[in-house]
Order: sequence, then structure tokens, then C-alpha cells
Amino acid sequence: MTSDQDDRITINTPNDGPIEVVFGESSPEQQVECFKQAGRTFVRSAPEDLWVAAEEQLAQLPLLRAKGCRHWCLYRADTPNEIISSLRTIRREVLIRDSQGVRQETGYDICMVATDAKYHGHGLASFLTRKVGEWADGPGAAPVTTLYTSVGPFYVKLGWDLLPAPQVSFELPLGVSRDALQRKREKGQSLQTRLVGPDEMPDLCNRDISQLRSQVEAYDLTPNTSLVRTLPIPEQLEWYQEMAKLQSLNWCDGREVKAVGAVCEEANTWILWYQDLSRKELKITRVKPGYGNPDLTKQALVQLLVRAMEEALSWEGLLAKIVIWDPSSEVHGALQVLGKELGFTTKSEMRDGVNQTSIRWANAENRQTIFWPNEYYACN
Ligand SMILES: CC(C)(COP(=O)(O)OP(=O)(O)OC[C@H]1O[C@@H](n2cnc3c(N)ncnc32)[C@H](O)[C@@H]1OP(=O)(O)O)[C@@H](O)C(=O)NCCC(=O)NCCS
Repeated sequence: MTSDQDDRITINTPNDGPIEVVFGESSPEQQVECFKQAGRTFVRSAPEDLWVAAEEQLAQLPLLRAKGCRHWCLYRADTPNEIISSLRTIRREVLIRDSQGVRQETGYDICMVATDAKYHGHGLASFLTRKVGEWADGPGAAPVTTLYTSVGPFYVKLGWDLLPAPQVSFELPLGVSRDALQRKREKGQSLQTRLVGPDEMPDLCNRDISQLRSQVEAYDLTPNTSLVRTLPIPEQLEWYQEMAKLQSLNWCDGREVKAVGAVCEEANTWILWYQDLSRKELKITRVKPGYGNPDLTKQALVQLLVRAMEEALSWEGLLAKIVIWDPSSEVHGALQVLGKELGFTTKSEMRDGVNQTSIRWANAENRQTIFWPNEYYACN
């Protein structure tokens, strides 16, 4: 039996009897406890102090500073620093196209939803997520909230929509060396490409954004459907650069992350990536196509993906796979060419049960939605 009044809920536990639990935005002291809870739940491999220090460092990033990230929790009324359930909201800049036209808005992504294992099944995460939804609809003024989840059906019950989440991936072929790839690239190259360093990333993101609105306006949208796309703002990509740095400290003696992508200026095409050392994957966070010329984009992507493979190989066995979310036909085309030349096969699949994309419109309004594209950079 539970009772639920405004910002609190009482649960009956078999061992401790009734416990009153309160909802709120975390105080600074509670925030550290939320970091610990997220670490216990999602990052069991790292020691707690290392994880908390990493969280504190990430919290200084422009994306998260100044309430860009808010921590929400349920805590015991009698011991407020005992966090029972927590999650965080991180701001998202989005372009929306619907019956009112195209406009830029600020929404939120919900992440790191966790309830302490001993309190599972008392309706706590449901209560917390519902309260945060009320905040997003009210003071948060968010037209849309997104999340990437491993427990999709749980959110559907709370009024979220699950969206298609396709990805393509391939293992680095055995026996292909970095030198061989470089030689191949230099020999057969008609289009020039170069690596992108961290300093150049903000400029590329801004160029990307400046070309996006017209793409959203031109999208062939079915009537009564709304289109949402998260903008690749530099702060969003910078979060991944910082994550790669932190992971490199942990797994690679702090090796400098020098390349964050590659660009082909002639084709107005580039890719950005993130060295996800914890999963041994090079994630392509953004594929920016050269709009209006799919064949040139495909040719450029062949070269750029060779650059990505060289980058992955340079981490000497620590990155074994390349993953691309929401691959376009140009990406598939480029991978087909490369796979044939280098002898690898790709795996195309839907992310069922991991990082499944979900969306909630303000006041749980039921809308037919296209989330385009659904790329990795938009997920935290
Ligand atoms: C998922 C989680 C947050 C639920 O917390 P909780 O406080 O027990 O949630 P509630 O009591 O409000 O709801 C429990 C419901 O979640 C469902 N649920 C729990 N784990 C689930 C899973 N892996 N897949 C689908 N549903 C799941 C339960 O079946 C239950 O459904 P019911 O209400 O129909 O019986 C908790 O299990 C947890 O911390 N898991 C580990 C971290 C995690 O996976 N977080 C989600 C990442 S997006």
C-alpha cells in the first residue's frame, strides 16, 4: 500500500515498515549522493571516488553548468541525504516543425534514472518521473522531453512514445593495419580529407546548425506529424570530448584525444566521433552530409570512414568496433563500398532494449512524431 500526496509518497517496506519519501530538486549535498547512486547503478566497474570526481568535472561543462543539468531525487523524509531514487535532466536545443511552423526551443533529456535496489517495485521511479514531467510541463516550459532507455515499456506506461532506433556497426577487420589504411586513402583519394581537432569542433557545429533549418523546412513530412531534431550544439559534442578524456585517463594513461572527427571540405561533409573506451567502440556522433549531392557525400564518407577506422586502430586494441546511429542511405552506400574493399560485413539492427529513443510532448500530448536524425550526439 502506498499513499501519494503532492511531493511525497509513503511506501510500506517488509523490513523497515512505512517510509515517507519526499520529491525535490537535489541540494548540493544530495547531489553528491545522487552521483554515488548513479555510479552504483550504472558504472559498477569504477571506484566510487573516481566516479564522483568525474561527475564533478563534467558538471563544470557549459552544457551542464547554470542549471543546464538538474538533479532530481526522492529522499527519506527523516534522513534527507539518503537518496532512494534519482534522475537528471539535461537541456537540449531542438528544432521543431509542426502546424505552427519551424522554431527553436529548449527541451530536456532525462537520464540516469535509478532506484536503490532494495526499494524496487514500490512505484518510486514512476512517481519521480511523473513529478519531473510535471516540472517540465510547468516551470521547465519544455515542449519536448527525450530519453534513451533500456527499459522502454516502463516509460510507455508513463506516457512516453518509443521511437525507431536503428544503428549500423562493424568490427574492425582483423589483419587491416593503420598504415595499410593510410596508404589506401592516400593512393586512391580524389577527395581530400583531414582530421578535426577539438578546437575546430565548435566551428563545425555552428556551420552544421546554420544549414539545418532549411533541411527541416524541406523535409517531406506526412500531414499531422511533428518533426523534432536535436541541434548539434558545440556544448553537446564537448560533453563527449570530456567523456573521452576521462576514459582515456582511466584506461589509457591520459593519452591525449587529438582527433574528434574528420572533414571533407570539397563535399561539405564531415563526421564527428567519440572514443567510447568503456565499451570499446568508436561512436560516430554526427554525420553531416553535403546536402543536395548524395553521390559526392557517399564518396566523401568512404574516405571519412577510413579516417574513423584509422583512429580506432590507433587506440591499439582498445576500440574494436565502429557504431553509427540512424544511418542514412549515403552511410549505408559508403559502408558497402568499404566492406567490399576491406572484407568486413556490417550489422544493421534496431536498438531494442538499449538506448531506445523515447519522447514525451508537454502535458503528454499524443503526437505522431519523426525524430530526425536520431544520432548519437543527442544522447547523454
Ligand atoms: C528501472 C527502475 C528505475 C525502476 O525503478 P522502480 O522504483 O522499481 O520503478 P517502479 O516501482 O516505479 O516501477 C516498476 C515497474 O518498472 C518495471 N521495470 C523494472 N525494470 C524493468 C525493465 N528492465 N524493463 C521493463 N520494465 C521494468 C517493472 O516491471 C514494474 O512494472 P509494473 O509497475 O507494471 O509492475 C529500477 O529498476 C532501476 O533502478 N533499474 C536499474 C537502472 C535502470 O535500468 N534505469 C533505467 C535506465 S533508463
